[in-house]
Amino acid sequence: MNNKDSHESEINLVWNLMFNRNIDSALKRGHKSFVKGIEKLGLSNSFFPSVDFLNKQLSSIGWCIHPCEVMTISPRDWFALLIQKRFPVTVKLRSLSELDYSVEPDCFHDYFGHLPFLYDENLECLLLLIARMYMSVPNKMSKDFINRLYFYVFEFGLTYVNDEIKVIGAGFMSSANETSRIYNDDIKLENFSLEKVSSEMIHPDGVVNKAYVALDYAQLFSEIESIWPRLRDECKPVATIAEILKELRK
Ligand SMILES: [Fe+2]
Repeated sequence: MNNKDSHESEINLVWNLMFNRNIDSALKRGHKSFVKGIEKLGLSNSFFPSVDFLNKQLSSIGWCIHPCEVMTISPRDWFALLIQKRFPVTVKLRSLSELDYSVEPDCFHDYFGHLPFLYDENLECLLLLIARMYMSVPNKMSKDFINRLYFYVFEFGLTYVNDEIKVIGAGFMSSANETSRIYNDDIKLENFSLEKVSSEMIHPDGVVNKAYVALDYAQLFSEIESIWPRLRDECKPVATIAEILKELRK
């Protein structure tokens, strides 16, 4: 076996192991839209998905992935890509020695944790809304606030579904170990509130000790709507949340 073949077979092996380690937890603990999303995306344990494969799958909903250095891309570039329905991803997969924990987000996190939720129209809309908000507000404080909102929804978000806590954040979805900490009382859970999230820390190492549970998607939209007049104060004239949502849902 030459070096290229051996590299490819390690990548397929790591993907297979990571998929098998996490799929049961993801199906059990993830929001039901994950199940629909992963099927539509065509992810399985049998092959490592290429950029071309993912783009072909995502084209049915108007998205594509944007390979980049996700650790160094600026928030502004990040949200600008999202507005164009280009999801920034790293294409590097962790090594065999990092199956339990990878310091840097790898493409398992991005492909398995984030991409399936793009098929959930409410979360997609929320993602585009947050990106539009980020690009509209001029001051650093508001931008920092929107970064935290993204982190506590799209990385470590939880929501109730029929009184059960379900995962919508990729940081949990892509790690059965992290997800188990929610249900072992290892992570402090609080009801979601934008006020609380606004004073939270972002943890770049991807380990949180606290997470917020939204009542449902409607709560996320209504809280954003209520806080938007304050955030947009300095960037008049910009649209209301209702106007932005009307445009996004056309
Ligand atoms: Fe992420």
